[in-house]
Amino acid sequence: MTYQEHFEQIVRDQLARVEAMKEAQAAPDFAAKEKIIIGTIDGDGIGPIIMDSARQILEKLLAEDIASGRIELRPIEGLTIENRIEKMQTVPADVLAAIKECDLLLKGPTTTPGKGDGRPNLESANVTLRRELDLFANVRPVAIPEQGIDWIFYRENTEGEYALGSRGVEINDDISIDFKVTTTIGTTRLARAAFEYAKNNGNKNVSIVTKANIMKKTDGKFLSLCMDVAKDYPDIKVDDWYVDIMAANLINPLFNKNFNVVILPNLYGDIITDEAAQIQGGVGTAGSANIGGRYAMFEAIHGSAPRMVADGIAEYANPASLCRAAVMMLRHAAMAEKASKLEQALDLAADALDMPGDGTGNTAADFTDFVLKQL
Ligand code: IPM
Ligand code: MG
Repeated sequence: MTYQEHFEQIVRDQLARVEAMKEAQAAPDFAAKEKIIIGTIDGDGIGPIIMDSARQILEKLLAEDIASGRIELRPIEGLTIENRIEKMQTVPADVLAAIKECDLLLKGPTTTPGKGDGRPNLESANVTLRRELDLFANVRPVAIPEQGIDWIFYRENTEGEYALGSRGVEINDDISIDFKVTTTIGTTRLARAAFEYAKNNGNKNVSIVTKANIMKKTDGKFLSLCMDVAKDYPDIKVDDWYVDIMAANLINPLFNKNFNVVILPNLYGDIITDEAAQIQGGVGTAGSANIGGRYAMFEAIHGSAPRMVADGIAEYANPASLCRAAVMMLRHAAMAEKASKLEQALDLAADALDMPGDGTGNTAADFTDFVLKQL
């Protein structure tokens, strides 16, 4: 394929994706739903350990609904790096089909082969699932009440640098080119979700983060579309920041309390939410929701921690982030009371246990026992 043909194909695929987005299904009315299937995906590395904890906790919390058949916790097998490499598919077709039979997904971290680690160049399973299930909003809350910090990040989840991250071109030994995509519908639906959240929670401040001074076409479009959506919310205070100064402001106590809802394109959202989670106490403390129309997937914001596994300290992995994701899942599925009950237990665990992730302190099993006792 020539570069021209490659680029033409990319443009054609993106135009088709825009058409598909127009057909997207609305979210189910969970309160009215007779049966809710929650698929649980262990993932790789520390994934099975923290999922074991989350599953035990959900089984106790939702015991009645599980017994009555209203809720099914359904383990989804096969989204492991070994199986993905064997099939040479990022998300093997049978696994994807099983996933699509669920209403909600709770997912452990999955390993992505990196450049030069000797494994085949598979796309990240997260990226594939977000695209295949059209999970357009990545919602990541971070709260530090004693510092007056109450942030929620709305990260665009299917576009930007990620949409074509595996379809760049190595022209020759000297030049490589990647592509970045912003679409009107992709940005607008994310901005709408963020502003709706801000409105429904007392007109919280909204901040839009881009690098529109440099990435003029894509980030420029993102910023102006967010500003267009803002016009429908006259009671909400809106400002915009470049991502570099935003990274600084988050650790500036003079500024950081003023941020509430933050809207970001995909890659900046990836980076800034790790920073924010670290400010809260580490990436092991933050949960994350991938919200689409028909589907929604909830996960920890961290990866599979291969270093912890290699060092033999995987049992010290902190299940808190996956359990925080479960709280978000329960709220999303109109089970607010159960969500709050779990959240309170997790807050107590955060105070009572010491889980630095370096092989000292409490283990995942200690965490599970502690939380189960609170429920
Ligand atoms: C995240 C992760 C993923 C991402 C990786 C695992 C592909 O860092 O969910 O933030 O880059 O989006
Ligand atoms: Mg990340």
